Amino acid sequence: MTAYRSVFRDEAKLDINYVPSRLPHREVEMRLLKEFFNFMLSAPEKMAQRVLIVGDVGTGKTVLSQRFGADITQQAKQKGINLNYIHVNCRQYRGSLFLILHHAVSFFHPTFPKRGFSAEELLNIFLQVLDEQNAYAILTLDEFESLVGREGAEPVYKLTRLQEARLGKPQRVSLICILKSLKAVEELDPSTRSTLQSNVIRLEPYSQEQLIDIISDRVPLAFKPSAVPEETVNLIAELAYSEGGNARFAIELLWRAGKYADAENLDTVTPECVRKAISSIYAMARKSDLATLSLHEKLLLLGVARF
Ligand SMILES: Nc1ncnc2c1ncn2[C@@H]1O[C@H](COP(=O)(O)OP(=O)(O)OP(=O)(O)O)[C@@H](O)[C@H]1O
Ligand SMILES: [Mg+2]
Repeated sequence: MTAYRSVFRDEAKLDINYVPSRLPHREVEMRLLKEFFNFMLSAPEKMAQRVLIVGDVGTGKTVLSQRFGADITQQAKQKGINLNYIHVNCRQYRGSLFLILHHAVSFFHPTFPKRGFSAEELLNIFLQVLDEQNAYAILTLDEFESLVGREGAEPVYKLTRLQEARLGKPQRVSLICILKSLKAVEELDPSTRSTLQSNVIRLEPYSQEQLIDIISDRVPLAFKPSAVPEETVNLIAELAYSEGGNARFAIELLWRAGKYADAENLDTVTPECVRKAISSIYAMARKSDLATLSLHEKLLLLGVARF
């Protein structure tokens, strides 16, 4: 009997939800983010911050924000400040302000009912809960376009003007909005736009060398020693660079290539594994391709996918 061999040490380190402890080539952006929120560690009640993180697919927007959130809440705890980082993917909640706020309230009251309240009421409840617990929140609205697309400028207006009806009370909620381009913000009314746009952190696509560093940093966490040779790392970086400097593509390709290596019972993830993995990725239809298909073609594709 042969024991099951695997090139992986811990596949979970390649999961899309994994947040590494350090993010190579995002040090400057991380410092900037920390700078913007520094006041939260000394006088959180004094102001409410708003920061936009803008960048293309796979430039590390989500992971940067989550790393920052985990770090700052940890630091706040040490100082006895009840700071909570709440990350909401707006698209996951179909851009509905109600569902997004319900998620925020559920952070404190996990069984909070979904019925019987309006979005406006949920917003007040959220503030009330924070007041009661003397807590502060950094609310991250990831895939922010989805919220603006569905609800227009109104909720954004409300979220940025929370304090106006609370004169004299502590500021409780800061915002981080994550989006792919500033286009969605440009469509908002001028005053909301100006309150949002003052702090913009732009994430540029990664260069090939930067992608090499990112992959090399992840390899020892996810793979057994010597399982991923340098030429494999270089090839993945080259391909991810041609996909627009997309780190998500790189990490996913690395994982898939590892799967091919395991399937063929290899000790190392060879460049050939990467080539096989990439053909499987390219074989997957992209959303934009699907849009051009007729209904009949879509149904056919669905049938094949389920097969
Ligand atoms: N600088 C970095 N160091 C380490 N890993 C990174 C870095 N940047 C991105 N990643 C990894 O790349 C993947 C994609 O990153 P992330 O999900 O943050 O991209 P994104 O900008 O939010 O993309 P999208 O616009 O598609 O949501 C994740 O697995 C993340 O851990
Ligand atoms: Mg993201």
